[in-house]
Amino acid sequence: MAAEVEEKKQKKRISKESLKRAKSIMRYLSPYRKHFIFGLILLFLSSITTLLVPRLMGQLAGIGLSEKEQEWLLDIGPLHLDMMDLNTIGIILFAVFFVQGLISFLKIYVFSFVSEYMIRDLRKDVYAHMIRLPMVFFVEQRVGELNSRISADISAIQETFTTTLAEFIRQVIVILLGVAFLFYTSPDLTMVMLITLPLMMIVAVFFGKFIRKLSKQTQDEVAVSNGQVQETLIGIVNVKSFTTEVFESIRYASSVEIIRSIAMRSAIWRGLFGAFIIIFLFGSIAIVIWRGAVLMQQGQLDAALFFSFLLYTVMIGASFGGIASQYASVQKAMGSIEAVLDLLEEGAEDIPLANPDSILKKLKGEIEFKNVSFFYPSRPDETVIKDLNLHVKAGEKVALVGPSGAGKSTLASLILAFYNPSEGTIRYDGEDVSRIGLNDLRRNMAFVPQEVLLFSGSVRDNIKYGTPDATEQEVMKAAEDAQVIEFIDRFETGLDTLIGDRGIQLSGGQKQRLAIARALLKDPAILILDEATSSLDSSSEKSVQLALEKLMEGRTSVIIAHRLSTIRDADRIIVLDGGKKVEEGKHEELLAKTNGLYRTLSELQFSES
Ligand SMILES: Nc1ncnc2c1ncn2[C@@H]1O[C@H](COP(=O)(O)OP(=O)(O)O)[C@@H](O)[C@H]1O
Ligand SMILES: [Mg+2]
Repeated sequence: MAAEVEEKKQKKRISKESLKRAKSIMRYLSPYRKHFIFGLILLFLSSITTLLVPRLMGQLAGIGLSEKEQEWLLDIGPLHLDMMDLNTIGIILFAVFFVQGLISFLKIYVFSFVSEYMIRDLRKDVYAHMIRLPMVFFVEQRVGELNSRISADISAIQETFTTTLAEFIRQVIVILLGVAFLFYTSPDLTMVMLITLPLMMIVAVFFGKFIRKLSKQTQDEVAVSNGQVQETLIGIVNVKSFTTEVFESIRYASSVEIIRSIAMRSAIWRGLFGAFIIIFLFGSIAIVIWRGAVLMQQGQLDAALFFSFLLYTVMIGASFGGIASQYASVQKAMGSIEAVLDLLEEGAEDIPLANPDSILKKLKGEIEFKNVSFFYPSRPDETVIKDLNLHVKAGEKVALVGPSGAGKSTLASLILAFYNPSEGTIRYDGEDVSRIGLNDLRRNMAFVPQEVLLFSGSVRDNIKYGTPDATEQEVMKAAEDAQVIEFIDRFETGLDTLIGDRGIQLSGGQKQRLAIARALLKDPAILILDEATSSLDSSSEKSVQLALEKLMEGRTSVIIAHRLSTIRDADRIIVLDGGKKVEEGKHEELLAKTNGLYRTLSELQFSES
C-alpha cells in the first residue's frame, strides 16, 4: 500500500508550472550544452540512417528498384540505374549499418558524458544542501526518504536525460520522416495505417501498464500474508500462550482470499489484453496488408515499395508505443525533479560552503537562557521546555539531572542551536546566535552523546574528525589524555588501526574515549555531555571518567548524567522535571532538602546499588 502512495506522489501531471520548475534543473545542463547539442545532431543522423534501412531492405526483397523509384532517380540526377544492382544495395545496406553503429556508439558516449557530469553536479549540490538543513528537517523527514532524494530521484532524472529524452526525440523524427515516406509511397495506404496502428499501440502500452499494476498489487498482498506467517511462526510462543490459533487462521484465510480475488482480476485483464493484441493490433496490420495487396493487384503499388511500407509501418508502430512509455517515464521524472527542487529550495543553515575553518571567533563559554520555552515543530501541543532561565558562567561545570523525558537532551540541543527557542532568547558571551553565526558557535562546542558514532576509517581519522589540521603531537596528546593510547597500544598499527566493518570493533567505553579525544582536540569553550557514561559498565566508566575530567578542565561544561554519583562535584546541579527547573544548587544543598526531587532520585539510585 505504501508503495502505491509513493507512486501516486511521484507521478506528476506535466503542467506548465512543472515544466517551468523543471527548467531550473536545466541550469545543470548548461555547462555541457555544446556536448548536448552534438548529441542531438547525432540523434538526428541516427534517425535518418534507421529510416534508410527498411527502404534498402525493401529494395533487396523487392528485387532491385521499383519502377516509381527508377523514374524518380532519373529525374534527380545522372545516376546509372544498372549500377544500383543487388550487390550495390547489399553493400550500401552494410555501410548504413556500419555508420549507424558508429553513430550509436558516439550517441551513447555523448549523452552519457552530459548526463553523468550533470548528475554529478546535481548530486553534489543536493548533498551539500541537505547536510546544511536545520535539525528540524531531519526530525520530520525519514532518513530513508532523504536518501531516496539522492539515489532514486536523481537516478530518475538522469534516466530522463540519457535515454528517455534522446529516445523520445528519435521516435518523433522516425515517426515524422517515416510517415512522410509512407505518404510518398502510397497516400491511400498511409491513411489506412494512420487511423489504426498508432491508436492501437498507445492503447496497448497503457493496457500493459495497468496489468503490471494489478500484478504488483497481488505481490504486495502476498508479501503481507507471508509477513503474517513469518511473524506468527517466530512468535509461536505468543500465539500458543494467548491461544490465538483460530484468530490467526481466520486472518490468514482472509488474506489469501484477497490474493485470490486480485489475482483473478489480473488474470481476466491479462486474458483481455492477449485477445486485444490478437484481434486489434494484428487486425490492424492485417487491414494494412489487405489494403496493400488490393493496391498491388490494381497496379498502384509495387512489391518492393510494399515491403518497405510494411517495415516502416512496424517501425512507426514501435515508435508510437515507445513514445507512450517515454511519456510515462518523463512524468515520473517530473515528480523526481519536483522532489529534488523542493529539497534544494528548503532553507538551509548559514553554514559556509567553503573554508569553514577560516578565522574562528573564540568564545569564552558563557551561556544564558532567558525565559526560554520550546516545543518541537512536529509536536506543537507539547511544550518540552517551559520558561527556563539559566545562566552558566564561563568555565562553570553545571550538571543537568531529572527523570527521563524531563527535557535534558532537548536542552542540550538548544545549547547547540539545533533548534531555535519557541520563546525567549539564548545568548553566548552575551551575544545572539545570529551575531556569532551557527558555524562559529558550534565550532566552539563539543558534544559527547551517549551513543558515539564512529566513521569508518582509522582511529586517527576519527580523532581528527572536525579538526583535520591538527598536528601529530596534538593528536597524540589528545589520545593520551583521553586514555585512548591505553587500549590502542595493544594494536601493532596503533592510531592507524582501522575501525568499523573493515577493522576492529570497539567497546562502548573505548568508543566513548575516542569521542572524548575528538572533543579534546577540538578544544572547545563549551562542552556538552549527554549521558556519556550511562551505558558503560563500572570498570570502563572509571577510565572514561578520568578522560572526562581531563576534558572538562578549564571549559564551560554542561553534564547530563543519569548516574548521580558522577556529578557530585559539579559547581551546580540543576534538576529538571517536565521541562521546568525545579531545583538548583550544590550536591549537599540539594540532598538536604526534604522531599526534594534530587534527594528522591538519589535515594532511588542508592537503594538500587
Ligand atoms: N525530536 C523530537 N520530536 C518531538 N518530540 C520530542 C523529540 N525529542 C524529544 N521529544 C519529546 O520531548 C520530551 C523531552 O525529551 P528529552 O529532551 O529527550 O528528555 P530527556 O533527555 O530528559 O530524557 C519528551 O516528551 C520527548 O518525547
Ligand atoms: Mg535524553
